[in-house]
Amino acid sequence: MQQFGVIGLSVMGKNLALNIRNHGYSVSGFSIDKSEVDAFAKYEDDKLKPCYTWEEFVNSLEKPRKILIQIMAGDPVDQTLQKLLPLLDKGDILIDGGNSNFHDTTRRFEEMEKHGIHFIGMGVSGGEEGALNGPALMPGGDEEAYKKVAPILEAIAAKTPEGRPCVSYIGPSSSGHYVKMVHNGIEYAIIQEFSEVYDILRKIASKSDDEMSAIFDKWNQGLVHAYLTEITANVLKQKDNLTQDHVIDHILNVASYKGTGNWMLEDGVALGAPINVVAEAVIARFMSKATTREGKEIVWNGDVPDNLIDNLEKSLQLTQAVAYAQGFQQLTMAAKAYDWNLRYPAIAQNWEAGCIIRSSMLKDIEKAYEDGKQLEVLFQDPYFNQLMVNNIPALREVVSLVTKAGIPTPALSASLNYLESIFDPSLPANLIQGQRDYFGAHTYLRNDREGTFHTEWYEEK
Ligand code: 6PG
Repeated sequence: MQQFGVIGLSVMGKNLALNIRNHGYSVSGFSIDKSEVDAFAKYEDDKLKPCYTWEEFVNSLEKPRKILIQIMAGDPVDQTLQKLLPLLDKGDILIDGGNSNFHDTTRRFEEMEKHGIHFIGMGVSGGEEGALNGPALMPGGDEEAYKKVAPILEAIAAKTPEGRPCVSYIGPSSSGHYVKMVHNGIEYAIIQEFSEVYDILRKIASKSDDEMSAIFDKWNQGLVHAYLTEITANVLKQKDNLTQDHVIDHILNVASYKGTGNWMLEDGVALGAPINVVAEAVIARFMSKATTREGKEIVWNGDVPDNLIDNLEKSLQLTQAVAYAQGFQQLTMAAKAYDWNLRYPAIAQNWEAGCIIRSSMLKDIEKAYEDGKQLEVLFQDPYFNQLMVNNIPALREVVSLVTKAGIPTPALSASLNYLESIFDPSLPANLIQGQRDYFGAHTYLRNDREGTFHTEWYEEK
């Protein structure tokens, strides 16, 4: 009998199955696409079994069955559950490792519970390479069921530099997929910040692709040590097979998306989370398509400040912290709204290796939340507060320079606005309230006494 099953054998499913087998567990693989099973069969050995039918697959597994569903999110997951249900026994464990919308996961978790099946919604990050050699895993659902699959998940997950696995029980219901959604929103925000810094380096500092690659490479050894910094350096220096130019100069500047970042924004709006950088990052992708391209390219003829590169490094470090801060702020609000007991240090640890947003800063975030510390905002933590104090002058200078130059930097500017607002006791929302009460008698609260008030602003005629 096989210890684990994987449904869906395209790159992610196949690589996860191989990762499981490489850690000494026996695994069965099945796909409705016969060619995927044929490709998988090339790896067949005493621990790896290709299956061609639903029945052969389900019957090959020891009980309680542990099955990872690694297929495209959406309807295919529901169709798979319908196919599996009649073949399963009470107590079996299903894990959805796709980028499913957390609302779907909540529904599926409840439906499966009625049939006595444990459903784990698990975020998986790290792409193809991570799936094979160590992904970051974010499983949520029934904790007892999680404990039964934990040894396998811990074996295959990426490890932090201290050797701790990048997987831990996130929380009930759809919290695992929620955390993956927030991971992706942060991913959108940081990627957008990088593209804005690249734009400043090429348009204001007039750096070549190779020079920019070297700058990002240097930053990766310093303040912004992160996977996304490393790959930015690599993307910038890559030559094109077709033209021998740098490939970056031939990539069409229209950003695609599958929408997981958008979902974070949607739920952020529902919760009232102030995630303006994620919002700008999502909208920047829309803008990259919507722009009419009728204008002229920016040419900067002004001075290039001597400290520009230093300022950009400090800005990137700080704005990356803002992206994480907004993610954790939304998680804090979601935990309250959905009654989840989320363990923030464990979430930071889950992201320290294997995933797309991994960086050395996550260790500092883990520390900021350790010992049950409750932060409304990451920048309440002394380390991050000091980072803000130290680096905000650099970010102000950068935003002021690009404003003069006419270069849009939605994520960098939004980060600055977030930092300028988040501790401000005198934001001008009193005027908003006054206007609302004026035209709609919407009432307002006062800063000098309890209760709800309405002013008769004008005489009715
Ligand atoms: C990961 C990535 C992965 C996916 C992105 C891309 O963690 O491995 O987040 O899940 O590649 O979500 O998303 P877009 O296509 O929306 O940019």
